[in-house]
Amino acid sequence: MLTLKNISFHVEGEDKKLEIVDDVSLTLEDGKILVITGPNGGGKSTLARLIMGIEKPTSGQILFNGRDITGLSISERAKLGIGYAFQQPPRFKGMTVRELLTLAHGGNRMAECDCCSLLSKVGLCARDYIDREVDASLSGGEVKRIEIATLMARNLKLAIYDEPEAGIDLWSFSKLVESFRVISRQHNESVILISHQERIMQLADEMVIVSGGKIREQGSREEIFPKLFREVGSGEPACCMGNGGNCHE
Ligand SMILES: Nc1ncnc2c1ncn2[C@@H]1O[C@H](COP(=O)(O)OP(=O)(O)O)[C@@H](O)[C@H]1O
Ligand SMILES: [Mg+2]
Repeated sequence: MLTLKNISFHVEGEDKKLEIVDDVSLTLEDGKILVITGPNGGGKSTLARLIMGIEKPTSGQILFNGRDITGLSISERAKLGIGYAFQQPPRFKGMTVRELLTLAHGGNRMAECDCCSLLSKVGLCARDYIDREVDASLSGGEVKRIEIATLMARNLKLAIYDEPEAGIDLWSFSKLVESFRVISRQHNESVILISHQERIMQLADEMVIVSGGKIREQGSREEIFPKLFREVGSGEPACCMGNGGNCHE
């Protein structure tokens, strides 16, 4: 179980303190899927980076299965089974897709059919990609899918996918959505999906809307989903979704 207790992340701006994440508390139970949504710049990726340990909170506590992991490094958290697929993944010049998947899988060379099954989950044909380098010759969408596959290759307890829909065509997207569901169920893996996609939101056991660094809404999919598409009088989108993330009451 993941618990965030009053997590804040503040940075010094030019003339004032910027509250990128502001007093966020939430709980994610084992095997459940949490979808985080909200406007661009709202603080979603920062929240993911705080959970992964790429950033350290200014205040608050992160607990994972009852253990306080707030002070742990990225690699210590990775050893506990936490993984994060970046919104914009890095490239690995000189490393092939097979080598990258093998590394993610724990170092034992992976059979072609295992690579194939992983790559097909993200809509890539292994024959075309397995020996390609993860370098600038791959498109943004291809690197993104390969990174998602590396996370799926690991036996994680908590996987965080940051806007996995980016760069994925409609056909592959259906497969990907189904893969998230299956992996979470089969391995009892907790999954955090940061997404704007309705189809991904349909997977959620729990949903939160993050805007201006704060949780604006939190609850089950049934509770939150209708609020996302709620419109106010003039046809403008509801406040929490339409203000570009600068919603400070
Ligand atoms: N270390 C940082 N220093 C200054 N500003 C930051 C830092 N990290 C994030 N931000 C800013 O915080 C806001 C939230 O960013 P982010 O978490 O990437 O939002 P989202 O993923 O919801 O689009 C953005 O305006 C971003 O530029
Ligand atoms: Mg983001």
